[in-house]
Order: sequence, then C-alpha cells, then structure tokens
Amino acid sequence: MFITFEGPDGSGKTTALEGLKKYLDGKDFKYVFTREPGTHCSKEANQIRKIILDKENNITPMTEAILYAADRRLHLEKLIWPALLKKEVVLCDRYLDSSLAYQGKARKLGIKEIKELNEIVTENTYPDVTIFFDITPAEAAKRVDSRAPKDRMELEPDSFREDVYTGYQEVIKMFPKRFRIVDASKSKEEVLEQVIKIINKELSI
Ligand code: TYD
Repeated sequence: MFITFEGPDGSGKTTALEGLKKYLDGKDFKYVFTREPGTHCSKEANQIRKIILDKENNITPMTEAILYAADRRLHLEKLIWPALLKKEVVLCDRYLDSSLAYQGKARKLGIKEIKELNEIVTENTYPDVTIFFDITPAEAAKRVDSRAPKDRMELEPDSFREDVYTGYQEVIKMFPKRFRIVDASKSKEEVLEQVIKIINKELSI
C-alpha cells in the first residue's frame, strides 16, 4: 500500500505527519515513512534536495522539474519499489502530485507535460491513496511568513502559491478516486484527527 501526503507550503502537513507517526508507533503498526525531495535513505537524493532548495541557486523551471524527477527515480529505486515488493506500507510526504501542482501549474510547464515526464520516470507508479491538506493560499501564506529561514520555493510570491493551490485542485479533479481531502484550516488536533481517521480506514487498523 502506497499512501502519499500533499498540500501547499504552510498547510501543517509536517506537524500532522509527526503526530501520525507517533500514533502508528503507539499501535506498533509497521510502516516505512519517507519524503520528497530527499528521502533520508539516499545520499544522492539529499544532494539533489540541496540543489533544489538552496536559495542561492538559479535554475530554470525545466531543470527544477527534472531534478525533482531524478530525486523521485532514486527514491523509487532505493526505497519505494523494494518496500512495495515486500508488501510494506509506504507513507510518503510529497510525491508526483507536487510536481504536477508546483512545476506543471505554478511554474507553467503544463500539468499534462509534467505528468508525462513523471509517468516515464516512475514507470507509472501512482500512489493508492493521496491525502490532500486543503488550505487557502492566504491562510497558508500566514503560516509560511511566520517561519524563518525560508527555502527557494518558500520565497516565491503570493501568485505562485495561488497557482500551486489551483494546480492541486486540477490534479484532484484528474484523480478523484485516489484523493482524500483534509480540512487543514482547522486546529492541529482536528487536522491530525482527520488524518488518523482516513489512515485507519485505508489500512483497516
Ligand atoms: P520541504 O522543506 O520538504 O517542504 P514541505 O515540508 O512543505 O514538504 O520542501 C519541499 C518543497 O519542494 C516544497 O516547497 C514543495 C516543493 N516540491 C516541488 O515543487 N515539486 C515536487 O515534485 C516536490 C516533491 C516538492
């Protein structure tokens, strides 16, 4: 079972995932937790993460899309494919839908084009379920603005964040069966509760 978590920057995804891990550990439930860009188990993927997020770097949108795709390929080869072959539960903080929303929509490379690139790179490995942290760009911006220091993606203007959000909405419409929506404007506790409810149902815990 392959479950991914998606949402704009400032959606509270990271905090909720910390809570989810504690919950699953408390139940003694076995799972593999990972993230993009830069899965913890790959030195090469972390080197790519540094290039992508370093705010001193000046890279074009297409180079950025290819770097995310290269990171994803390493991630699949080194961790996701072996784990899925062993029938393990893989929980992943961001995956290909981030590329569709951020590079496809917000960087204006085209959702269709980035989808095609990623289908080649991933050999059509799609998640079984994707949990989307839904929060308006204005509310998400408030949370990101209170954070310091910011990475290269977080330094993008409001218009970029709005495009990311619209991009996600388009992606959700493309894959309605795969997506589960969490209202991320709620309190940390309520957001975690919604995530746990979905996970319990999907994994029959
Ligand atoms: P990270 O610090 O991991 O952020 P978060 O905690 O929000 O997941 O930074 C990842 C950044 O990379 C985030 O701004 C989203 C962006 N991103 C893309 O633009 N495309 C992608 O394919 C992925 C995986 C992430």
